[in-house]
Parts: sequence; C-alpha cells; structure tokens
Amino acid sequence: MKRRKLRLKLPFLKTARRKGPKRRIRKEIIYAFLAVVAIFLVILIPRTITNNKLKDLGYSKKAVAAIRAQKLVKPILDNGYYSAYLEKAILDQSVNLDYLPLYTVVDKERGLNDSDFLLYNRLTDKGYTQQQLLNLYKNLRYFELTPLLVFDYQYDETPYIEDCKKHPDNSQSTFQLDQNYLTAYENTIAVPNPESVDILVNKTYHLDASYTPPEVVDLSRRYASEGRQLAKVASDALINFIQAGEKVGVTFYATSGYRSYANQEELYKRYSTSLGQNTTDTLSAKPGFSEHQTGYAVDIAASHEDDIPEYKDTLAYQWTSTNCSDYGWILRYPQGKEAITGYAFESWHYRYLGTDLAKAVVASKLTYDEFWNLYLKPWDKEENKPKEAVLNNASYQTLFLQ
Ligand code: DAL
Ligand code: ZN
Repeated sequence: MKRRKLRLKLPFLKTARRKGPKRRIRKEIIYAFLAVVAIFLVILIPRTITNNKLKDLGYSKKAVAAIRAQKLVKPILDNGYYSAYLEKAILDQSVNLDYLPLYTVVDKERGLNDSDFLLYNRLTDKGYTQQQLLNLYKNLRYFELTPLLVFDYQYDETPYIEDCKKHPDNSQSTFQLDQNYLTAYENTIAVPNPESVDILVNKTYHLDASYTPPEVVDLSRRYASEGRQLAKVASDALINFIQAGEKVGVTFYATSGYRSYANQEELYKRYSTSLGQNTTDTLSAKPGFSEHQTGYAVDIAASHEDDIPEYKDTLAYQWTSTNCSDYGWILRYPQGKEAITGYAFESWHYRYLGTDLAKAVVASKLTYDEFWNLYLKPWDKEENKPKEAVLNNASYQTLFLQ
C-alpha cells in the first residue's frame, strides 16, 4: 500500500526544505515522537515529582511503590504523613486507612491494633478532637487512655498527660494520679435500663429514687446476715459461689445485699456525720448511685476467721478474689484502681454480671467503669462508631471469651 508522505507545514522545516535536499518525514514518525514526549510530560514527570516528594518525607523506594499500590499517595502527600511505623505498616500492608494519622504518632514498639481503634472512636464519641487524640496517643499507653472514658471530658488534655508521666510505674493493675479528673455527681445520667444485669452504676450513672429490682428474694441465714436480699439471679449465683467455697474449706457470707434508696440515704448520712463528706465519698455512694440498689451487689465477710479484722487479710478473700468470675462476680472496687472507680479498695464488695461478662471483665484488667464505657455503652453519635471489622475484632467476646 502506498503511503502518503507528510508535507510539513512547520516554518523551520519549510526553510530547511528550501535550503537543503528535499526531506520527507513520515507523518507516523512525528506522531510517535510527539506521543513519547506527551507520555513523558503527562505521566513520567509528575510521577517522578511525586516519588521525590514521598522520598523527601522519608519513605524508601520500596515503600513508595507500596504507597502507590495501596493508593495512599494523596492522603500521605496532602497531610505530609510519615513515621517509621507508618512506613512499616504500609510495607506489611497492615495499615487501616481510617486511622492513618494515628500511625504517625506511635512508634513500632507501641504499634496499633483494633482495640486502639475502638478506643479512638469511643474517645471521639466523648468529644475528643483528632488533634487531642493524636497528642494523647503520642504520649500515653493504652491503660492510661482507657480511664479517660470514665473521667470528665478534658478540654485541655496536657495536664492529664503530665500527671500520667509523673507515674511511670503505673500499669494495667495499678493506676495512680495526683489530680482528680472526675467531678463526682455532676453531669449525671439516669440508667436507662436498670433491670439489665450489665448496667453500670457509679458516680455518673444513677438509679431513680423509686427504682427497685424486679425480683428481690430473701437470702437464707445460711448464706447471709438476717434480712439480707438480692435480685434472684444474683442470689442464685451467690449461693453457688458460697457452696463452691465450702467445698475447698473457704467460708463466707453476705453482710449486705440489695439496699433501697432510703437505706442508702441513711447509710450515707451516717458516714457523713462521723467522717465528713470527702472521706465518705470514697467509701459510700450517695443514694441513687449505689450498686446495692441494683440488687446485683453484695458485701461479704469471712466466717470462722473472726480474729482477722479485715476481709482483705482473710483466706476467704484470697479465694473469692481469685475465683469470683467463675461464679459470675467481679471485685468491683479493686486495689490500685481507686483513681478510676472513685472508691477506696473494697475487698468485700462483689458485683454480679453473669459468668461470661465477669470473666471478660477480669481478663480485660479494666475496671467495670472502663469496660462498660468501652464495650457496652450505646454510642452517642452513630457516625462515631467504627467499621464492623473493628467492632468485631475488638469486641470483648472476641478478645476475652474465645
Ligand atoms: N460502698 C459502695 C461504694 C456503695 O456504697 O455502694
Ligand atoms: Zn458494697
């Protein structure tokens, strides 16, 4: 097939044709040349510029390729995100895009997992901004962040961070602070479904004065002091607990169970008169704010160990505190968590939650105040809920009951 030669209309070629031997350049060659130039201009130059920007942020050549493959160029360049940990997470393809900025504030050793993400969303739901959360995650360990779910919202998070830093020996089991971060009995919330076994009652969540548990039963004198009562499920669980103790030679009984609002009011007044309100508030709940009103809380004492003055020093305490969750109970105000629960250590006060929940709470090493706020609280704003994958992977069932 005969090909038509291109007659170039470009002036410089016209000139060349006039001066030199007649040169005919194929149209296709010109187009190909222009196409190569266009590809170079449109694709390669911006690509090289982008790669250089990513390298300038600190990413290796391999990481740059991974960033491209995972379509992360835009969020990373728009925000200038870089950290050694983010680079590592991109390389091993473990990065969760919904939490990209978080990867820039934690190091490889701390790392991030679905529990951190759930906590991030919970703290967002409490009102913390992204900037505050980055500051908090940058400076604090997981167990230093979970108490914030219970405390008042901190408009300035820096004093809390500084307080935590003053206590480097704090751990999952002991948590002390210099300042108080919960304004007790302020911003209180009425418990919406008080009959539910998993309800949280503390210095924020309270019961109505008129609330009585649905099925209160008398405890037999074999298991309790005269006239003590509990909600039926808790009474059954207490009897199992006591009988299991007896089988291994440990004996204890209930000294207090369900207390009405009026009973609690009387008790609180009595304490206040003798100890003053500040001390009383570390020992006794105001009426409406006591777990005893739920019918799911019990105070116990050791039998046959009368010469030992405090329950914490008894064999019964050793056994009950170790085995309680097998029977559906938790030690509600543990030693070392006073700053979070707002109460002094109560070796005698156990709370019924049912076996699964009690085991999960014990395994989590959280106070029930933190546990409920993290895993059970209804979300204030639906949009703050994390994606299903995070909710599933970081549920207490997945984490502690499998
Ligand atoms: N002693 C506990 C905190 C109560 O009064 O419910
Ligand atoms: Zn109690």
